[in-house]
Amino acid sequence: MKKVVAIYPGSFDPLTNGHLDLIERGSKIFDQLIVAILRNTEKTPLFSLGERREMMEAMTAPWKNVSVDTFEGLMVDYAVRVKATAVLRGIRAISDYEYELQMALMNRKLAPHLETVFMMPAEAYSYLSSRLVREIAQLGGPITGLVPELVEQKLREKIEPAHKFEEVSPSKAGKKK
Ligand code: PNS
Repeated sequence: MKKVVAIYPGSFDPLTNGHLDLIERGSKIFDQLIVAILRNTEKTPLFSLGERREMMEAMTAPWKNVSVDTFEGLMVDYAVRVKATAVLRGIRAISDYEYELQMALMNRKLAPHLETVFMMPAEAYSYLSSRLVREIAQLGGPITGLVPELVEQKLREKIEPAHKFEEVSPSKAGKKK
């Protein structure tokens, strides 16, 4: 029987427990699932492509039919290259739907053979997003339970030195108000 290869594309900056929940669900219905991390060219990501890949590889190691890759350019071109016939995307709430529908239909126009499959993460992750995790971490708030421990540690390493630098920066300390 034909094996179904799916890709799960995204920025994953950073990877959250919601992403992992979706990967686990996807790994159960697809023969092979490739987590495809986008090399963002427009926005500057918090984590480099290499850092995002490393964290994703560590966290997806338990699933033998899940692999990690990176891509740039059109997602549909990448899907064709790796012989994927499905694209996995998560829908958390109705607010996600409009953007996801637009993207799925545009991708269908570009590559009619590629089917987008939407899955819902566990309710506990329905309000979770990488953007909010970045914001909370950058403002010194708690992110325990929102991201894997490894990601929490990497976020602290990345963000804490910046906070410390701001506190002692002589250029700021010397400035008159
Ligand atoms: O995690 P994100 O940022 O919501 O993922 C968005 C992603 C990577 C799936 C989307 O931006 C994408 O596919 N980018 C690649 C460029 C592309 O194919 N654009 C046309 C989309 S219709």
